[in-house]
Amino acid sequence: MNENLALPVGTTLDRFIKQKQVDFPFATGELSQLLRDIALAGKIINREINRAGLIDLTTSLGTQNVQGECQQKLDVVANIRFVRALKNGGEVCAVISEEDDEMIDTGNHHGRYVVAMDPLDGSSNIDANVSIGTIFSIYRRVTPVGTPPGLEDVMQPGTRQVAAGYVLYGSSTMLVYTTGHGVNGFTYEHSLGEFFLSHPNMRIPQTGTVYSVNEGYFHDFEPDVRELVESYRVRRMTARYIGSLVGDFHRNLVKGGIYLYPPTRKDINGKLRLLYECYPLAFVVEQAGGLATDGHRRILDIAPQALHQRTPLYIGSRELVEEIRLEEKIGQGKANGEKARTEKVLA
Ligand code: AHG
Ligand code: MN
Ligand code: MN
Repeated sequence: MNENLALPVGTTLDRFIKQKQVDFPFATGELSQLLRDIALAGKIINREINRAGLIDLTTSLGTQNVQGECQQKLDVVANIRFVRALKNGGEVCAVISEEDDEMIDTGNHHGRYVVAMDPLDGSSNIDANVSIGTIFSIYRRVTPVGTPPGLEDVMQPGTRQVAAGYVLYGSSTMLVYTTGHGVNGFTYEHSLGEFFLSHPNMRIPQTGTVYSVNEGYFHDFEPDVRELVESYRVRRMTARYIGSLVGDFHRNLVKGGIYLYPPTRKDINGKLRLLYECYPLAFVVEQAGGLATDGHRRILDIAPQALHQRTPLYIGSRELVEEIRLEEKIGQGKANGEKARTEKVLA
């Protein structure tokens, strides 16, 4: 019998989650179920994305989200799908989302977990059929089980994450996540409707030749950031920037490299959101052997102060992130940080 004619399809996400749960004898299985709910939401969003061009979902809705950004129809659809999956799952008592101003109380007051998410990342790429993603982060609640959730549940430091990851809707659809024991990647098999383990124990190369930054803002960066980007050019590194954080991050995770979104004249704290973009990817990158900072501090150590707080982000291969030593700004990280930065950038 020639076994090569019918190679095994591999480990499904479901089996993998089950196997991992056995390693934690006191685990209740709720986190495992929550990860399955997220995978299901990812599959549903994947379906919406795949047929978006056929049912007029690729256009703008004409509305803005809480941060004044133009909402795409798919942003809203993905948000509804995700929140519904989490509500129906029952393990989550509260959700925060890029698309919602306030924390969402799911009504599951016995749920032990909270989720922060960017339901659709890279939405400016939707109408061009370019890679987009979903980012998620999971915490154990701090308020007593059985009571309504509070802001303290969703405003925990990144070091308290119990799991985090993303779904990448790219040339193939992938789910990549960590529970603090390394990073594993799963590829979606459309015909079977399952995620299969395709990238076990992912490790980011210690260095790399790719840098990902929107160089169109070069003249709006602070001098030390311009110097940094200039040094990449001098070293003849390769520029790769999709404009979908998940896509850019994933490529650099696999190949080695650095993604940066520094402060600009317009976005003096950078553009990316701490709770549902930077914390989860920082957790993933560290678990894969890389680093994430805001140019000074480890991202995971930044104290959250607001649901939709922004931070500069430098993330990727350890050596490339470690070499970044930006000039410390007076007042940075404090309540008056924004003002201090504005004066400095506009000076
Ligand atoms: P979102 O679509 O969730 O608002 O996030 C978009 C983010 C990120 O995905 C991407 O890297 C960055 O915005 C691109 O911003 P610029 O167009 O300013 O480069
Ligand atoms: Mn985003
Ligand atoms: Mn988004």
